[in-house]
Amino acid sequence: MIMEKPVTAKLCNYQLWFTFLSSFILCFIILCFDYSALLSSSSGATYVNNMYSNSITGQEPKSHDFTRNSTNPFLNLSNSITEHPLKESETDSCLGRYIYTHDLPTRFNEDLLKNCQKLTRGTDKNMCPYLVNNGLGHLIEDSEMVLLNNSWFSTNQFMLEVIFHEKMKKYECLTYDPSLASAIYVPFYAGLDMSLYLWGYNISVRDSSSLDLVKWLADKPEWRTMSGRDHFLVVGRIAWDFRRQTDNETDWGSKLRFLPESKNMSMLSIESSSWNNDFAIPYPTCFHPSKDSEVFQWQDQMRKQKRLYLFSFAGAPRSEYQNSVRGKIIEECLASKYACKLLDCNYGSTNCDNPVNVMKVFQSSVFCLQPPGDSYTRRSIFDAILAGCIPVFFHPGTAYAQYLWHLPKNFTTYSVYIPVRYVKNWNASSVTRTLLQIPGDKVLALQEEVIKLIPSIVYADPRSKLETLEDAYDLAVKGMLKKIETIRSFIREGKDPGISFADRDDYKYTFSPYEGKA
Ligand SMILES: *[C@@H]1O[C@H](CO)[C@@H](O)[C@H](O)[C@H]1NC(C)=O
Ligand SMILES: *[C@@H]1O[C@H](CO)[C@@H](O)[C@H](O)[C@H]1NC(C)=O
Ligand SMILES: *[C@@H]1O[C@H](CO)[C@@H](O)[C@H](O)[C@H]1NC(C)=O
Ligand SMILES: *[C@@H]1O[C@H](CO)[C@@H](O)[C@H](O)[C@H]1NC(C)=O
Ligand SMILES: *[C@@H]1O[C@H](CO)[C@@H](O)[C@H](O)[C@H]1NC(C)=O
Ligand SMILES: *[C@@H]1O[C@H](CO)[C@@H](O)[C@H](O)[C@H]1NC(C)=O
Ligand SMILES: *[C@@H]1O[C@H](CO)[C@@H](O)[C@H](O)[C@H]1NC(C)=O
Ligand SMILES: *[C@@H]1O[C@H](CO)[C@@H](O)[C@H](O)[C@H]1NC(C)=O
Repeated sequence: MIMEKPVTAKLCNYQLWFTFLSSFILCFIILCFDYSALLSSSSGATYVNNMYSNSITGQEPKSHDFTRNSTNPFLNLSNSITEHPLKESETDSCLGRYIYTHDLPTRFNEDLLKNCQKLTRGTDKNMCPYLVNNGLGHLIEDSEMVLLNNSWFSTNQFMLEVIFHEKMKKYECLTYDPSLASAIYVPFYAGLDMSLYLWGYNISVRDSSSLDLVKWLADKPEWRTMSGRDHFLVVGRIAWDFRRQTDNETDWGSKLRFLPESKNMSMLSIESSSWNNDFAIPYPTCFHPSKDSEVFQWQDQMRKQKRLYLFSFAGAPRSEYQNSVRGKIIEECLASKYACKLLDCNYGSTNCDNPVNVMKVFQSSVFCLQPPGDSYTRRSIFDAILAGCIPVFFHPGTAYAQYLWHLPKNFTTYSVYIPVRYVKNWNASSVTRTLLQIPGDKVLALQEEVIKLIPSIVYADPRSKLETLEDAYDLAVKGMLKKIETIRSFIREGKDPGISFADRDDYKYTFSPYEGKA
């Protein structure tokens, strides 16, 4: 059957979530868009300095800190507010948001980029082209007019740590003074480092950078302030790659996240683990707008799409998936003929590397199926949202238990949940039947919610900042700062900050908390 669902809802009611009213800041120097810019250690950012002591002592900001006579050497007011010094009533928009970035030895980050030709293990790709344009990859030329010109890049899904670092270099509330910082960012490219050694190396090689890193960090005076509990890492691989639980050589990954120092730190990654100090943030997609208007234009375009397929699935039909949800979905998709479009991403095929192909299919589909694959999550979740295609989830670990800072808590507002505890209970045509039962007005409401989510799941081009919209990076920083502030208030109240900080909680990835909500 053919579902035709032209969506012509008018563009309206954009949530202008947050307007940054920075009183004294900020001149973004646009970097040259080339590889050398990515590798150079000095970013063009103007560092902003802060007068607010937010250290563990819990000092409240004092009004006299805001006068021009501060002795703080980092405070150079002549740069910005010569004419209008802050009055006592005025507040610092960076208050509670200052971040200090550790200046790590280059072997932990830049050297990995310089030696990008080595970063090919586990994929058949040369990673160097993905590093250009501050980690976004090459601009995509799209003659088919599926994408917006100048804001789509061939972004590798594992580049989050590089993109995040580039965005942090331009963060409006950076400080050079660690004592003023609310959070401390550790720009270790743990995912790229791990990708060199995941296959065929013994555990001492796999753990070596991690051990060096925590030793370096714990020796720094910044560590002592909160025993590292204000430190955070961002990595572009799934958290399980850093959660090797034994020293058995056959176990997977490194033990970075089980090192004693690491237990005091938080880590953001594209998929989190069961441990409480791992947090998931969206995979980088290929859409990196540099202006609000590009986001609005794209959203408007997605509202107007003609959607010819009821549902679609992009993935690789592999024999080992036969008895998995993924295998069943592929079977059902192939059997349904017209209702479902299968985009075959089989190994060796380049189909799914090109966002033009993926977007073309997702833009033409009402629902996009997101079964778990090699791990719980997939970048495809975010490709679907970008295309205004309603995601269908089969396991709570694919999104609901993951992207807590980026996706609505009430998942019935933006997705369809078909929990599959046991694949053997799968009935033929389960998906088709379930989706066809959803009333048309509910489908339109879901679709509008998905389209509204687009700004929250994109990483805006690091060389610019969206004017009013908060992107995935902004929400990640906000979530991290809030978490660290909670720990800080714990310490102020004399409580043990270690309670549940790094505990394991498998319950969050079970079906139980999500039962009865679908
Ligand atoms: C700033 O310092 C000057 C001289 O050191 C002093 O005369 C003036 O009162 C100070 N202003 C404020 C606002 O503290
Ligand atoms: C403050 O900034 C001004 C203008 O950028 C510069 O000329 C001056 O040397 C700076 N002062 C200090 C103490 O860094
Ligand atoms: C986008 O760029 C492509 C190739 O550079 C061109 O063919 C196409 O017309 C452009 N589309 C728009 C809307 O400008
Ligand atoms: C691990 O491998 C490295 C080289 O790949 C080797 O030098 C080292 O001795 C090995 N360690 C152990 C414990 O086998
Ligand atoms: C290591 O893991 C393998 C495979 O899981 C297992 O066969 C082996 O007994 C384990 N070795 C040790 C020392 O636990
Ligand atoms: C981790 O934090 C606790 C305090 O919460 C501290 O006692 C411990 O020494 C810290 N661990 C490391 C390795 O710094
Ligand atoms: C979740 O959203 C649905 C609408 O999709 C609404 O009916 C329901 O009341 C909401 N649940 C909660 C707990 O807010
Ligand atoms: C399959 O059918 C059984 C019995 O009708 C039902 O309990 C189960 O929920 C169905 N499974 C799916 C995935 O729809």
